[in-house]
Amino acid sequence: MMNSLKSLQQRIDSFLATYIAQYPHSKLQQAMSYSLLAGGKRIRPILVYLTGQMFHCPLNMLDPPAAAIEAIHTYSLIHDDLPAMDNDDLRRGKPTCHIQFNEAEAILAGDALQSLAFKLLSEGELLDNHTKISMIKELANASGLGGMCLGQSLDLQAEHQSISLEQLQQIHCYKTGALIKSAIRLGAFASGDIAKPFYAILDSYAEAIGLAFQIQDDILDIIGEQAIMGKPQGSDIAHEKSTYPALVGLDNAIKLTQQLYQQAIASLEQIPYNSQPLHDLTGYIINRNS
Ligand code: IPE
Ligand code: IPE
Ligand code: MG
Ligand code: MG
Ligand code: MG
Repeated sequence: MMNSLKSLQQRIDSFLATYIAQYPHSKLQQAMSYSLLAGGKRIRPILVYLTGQMFHCPLNMLDPPAAAIEAIHTYSLIHDDLPAMDNDDLRRGKPTCHIQFNEAEAILAGDALQSLAFKLLSEGELLDNHTKISMIKELANASGLGGMCLGQSLDLQAEHQSISLEQLQQIHCYKTGALIKSAIRLGAFASGDIAKPFYAILDSYAEAIGLAFQIQDDILDIIGEQAIMGKPQGSDIAHEKSTYPALVGLDNAIKLTQQLYQQAIASLEQIPYNSQPLHDLTGYIINRNS
């Protein structure tokens, strides 16, 4: 990750560590901290920060939504790895939550991270109540039946199946795109009126990077190195998952990420503020090796 993004990564890491530490020690708290503080890339919180910063929103107003989206994302990973879902044993370079603790504790850690996200969005003095309610509604929709959970359900139904490219795009849009779009929207909501004229452009940008992000994830499942990714390579093939490389081939999948990069940049260029940090992050998303 680029140095310019490292400081935001450190910021969210320490915000999350402090936040979770305010709860008394328990097995559940330990399981939640184990996964939450295991060192993810923090792309979604960084998107909240960079979108807000582009509209001159102070970082301390962006901490709660940044932490909330990371809590939802980490919960989605814990559940994604469970035996009933992708049945993986390595995540963020460590044994998955259900391997380190047990299945029941991993399910509960995911559940409690989900509630923690909405607690984060509801508290704090810096954002007004109207903004908080918009954020809660946005994240609730994007993480559940209007987004991530729906996508995960469709992803599991598409195992061992041959589906159309259109159907695969829908799955990726829900399971991964929805939270990425939500991260950008939360950053825009926190920024107030200044961001309003750009909501539609930001959504187009988000759709391009959300799809590119999951296609790159599918590509890395084939050509990535487990030690760098911190998660198993070959998991999709083992589960006969419907992925872009499986459907269109590796080379075409790579070409698609490049096309989506161009689309994303074209959207950013329509925003008359400094979008260079988002531009840099977009490049990282399609070139990353972890
Ligand atoms: C992995 O997400 C799951 C997907 C939605 C592709 P990330 O690649 O952002 O995982 P972390 O947060 O860096 O561990
Ligand atoms: C997961 O997609 C998307 C989520 C909502 C967690 P994958 O199942 O491909 O994610 P990884 O490869 O396990 O991180
Ligand atoms: Mg999965
Ligand atoms: Mg998985
Ligand atoms: Mg994957």
